[in-house]
Amino acid sequence: MTHPVAPSLLLLLLLLLQIPSSLSAVPAHPAYADPASCTVASSSLDQDPLREAEYGGAARRILDITHAYREDMPAWESDEPLGRFVWLLKTMANGSIANFSEMKLPVHSGTHVDAPGHVFQHYFEAGFDVDTLDLHVLNGPALLLDVPRDKNITAEVMESLHIPRGVHRVLFRTLNTDRQLMLKKEFDSSYVGFMKDGAQWLVDNTDIKLVGVDYLSVAAFDDLIPSHLVFLKSREIILVEGLNLENVKPGIYSLHCLPLRLRGAEGSPIRCILIK
Ligand SMILES: *[C@@H]1O[C@H](CO)[C@@H](O)[C@H](O)[C@H]1NC(C)=O
Ligand SMILES: *[C@@H]1O[C@H](CO)[C@@H](O)[C@H](O)[C@H]1NC(C)=O
Ligand SMILES: *[C@@H]1O[C@H](CO)[C@@H](O)[C@H](O)[C@H]1NC(C)=O
Repeated sequence: MTHPVAPSLLLLLLLLLQIPSSLSAVPAHPAYADPASCTVASSSLDQDPLREAEYGGAARRILDITHAYREDMPAWESDEPLGRFVWLLKTMANGSIANFSEMKLPVHSGTHVDAPGHVFQHYFEAGFDVDTLDLHVLNGPALLLDVPRDKNITAEVMESLHIPRGVHRVLFRTLNTDRQLMLKKEFDSSYVGFMKDGAQWLVDNTDIKLVGVDYLSVAAFDDLIPSHLVFLKSREIILVEGLNLENVKPGIYSLHCLPLRLRGAEGSPIRCILIK
């Protein structure tokens, strides 16, 4: 069942795809016995699909900081996990020509983004949905840093971080990552997030336009709405929540986040990666 590709055609394909010539340094996808050939290995069906948080490569590393959506992931303010969110509508087993699924997912599930309409009625009515979020803010250099583990993010904590002016995107890693809260089944309201004064300090004293955190809300539960209001008031700051910041070293990366273009939605699942 192999389809040999003529060498000249293959070369052209490689050029078009701008695949580096050091192809042998790139680990082979298990579905392809030999990365230089476009033939599917006959053994591929015996192997599980590759699911990696880190994609190797000679030139650069891509770190996936998105949580996979799982039925047993925590859901906002619920003791029950997210539950079933995707199911087959038509199956080949039932004689359909293809397997065909549909999904139903609260937009603030897992790794997701908040739009200004989330907490401001007038912004919602004016149409400031996730499709209006600035992709320039969502993509660019970002600083990943650790915050003190014994406090929520207050003004005092923000000041102690000494984030220089000119830094536009910051991913805050907290105790939530150590506690693996995104891997638990139940929602935990004791997560670390921004207190109102911490949010205000960030707005007043930094150039940060993207705030990323490692649990379902940027705001500490005790200051849930006040902190969101401070961040989203100007419509200049984008909030990315529920990031998977485990196994990533603090430092500067190229961040790439893409929400779905859900018209009318004040939140959206988002895929975020870091490129080193
Ligand atoms: C389609 O889904 C069914 C489950 O209903 C599964 O048994 C079958 O293997 C799937 N077919 C393909 C081609 O993946
Ligand atoms: C496939 O058909 C069986 C038997 O009619 C039914 O029980 C099952 O729900 C169907 N599955 C889907 C995904 O349509
Ligand atoms: C952060 O605030 C929450 C309430 O919003 C609280 O339960 C938790 O203990 C605080 N965490 C720390 C580390 O102080």
